[in-house]
Amino acid sequence: MPNFAADGILTPEQIDTVAKQVASYSGIEGGVATPEGQQIFIENCAACHGENAAGLVDMGGPSLNDKVWLYEGTQGSLEGIKAQLAAPRHGVMPAWGSRLGEAAVKELAVYVHGLGGGQ
Ligand code: HEC
Repeated sequence: MPNFAADGILTPEQIDTVAKQVASYSGIEGGVATPEGQQIFIENCAACHGENAAGLVDMGGPSLNDKVWLYEGTQGSLEGIKAQLAAPRHGVMPAWGSRLGEAAVKELAVYVHGLGGGQ
């Protein structure tokens, strides 16, 4: 996701407001839902995380309202949410091509694709 602070997309006040909004979705201490926070979320976050913050599979944006966090410890807090906006983590998976070989990678891809019902 974009770096909302460094790229100047949101002001520090807006980051504070939207972080409180997101925190409110899962009852995190310090979370406050406001019409302004809702508007910032819809305009800047909903494209990837969904209008209701339930996540969007197609965009890869995880749910932000289910109390499940990718990074346990830092994200389940107001500070953790703000940190994601100023220094976003991008989940990285190691490259397996050279370790498994081309054929095995293809077989695995077909297998994992099948696990998702072929979607
Ligand atoms: C371009 C798509 C995109 C946009 C726009 C976006 N995000 Fe994200 N966001 C992601 C992705 C993808 C991840 C997962 C990152 C990872 O895997 O490390 C993420 C992760 C997060 C997390 C951490 C979730 C967790 O479970 O740990 C938070 C909090 C978050 N985003 C908040 C926001 C907020 C608030 C906004 C709007 C100001 C926003 N995001 C805008 C794509 C986006």
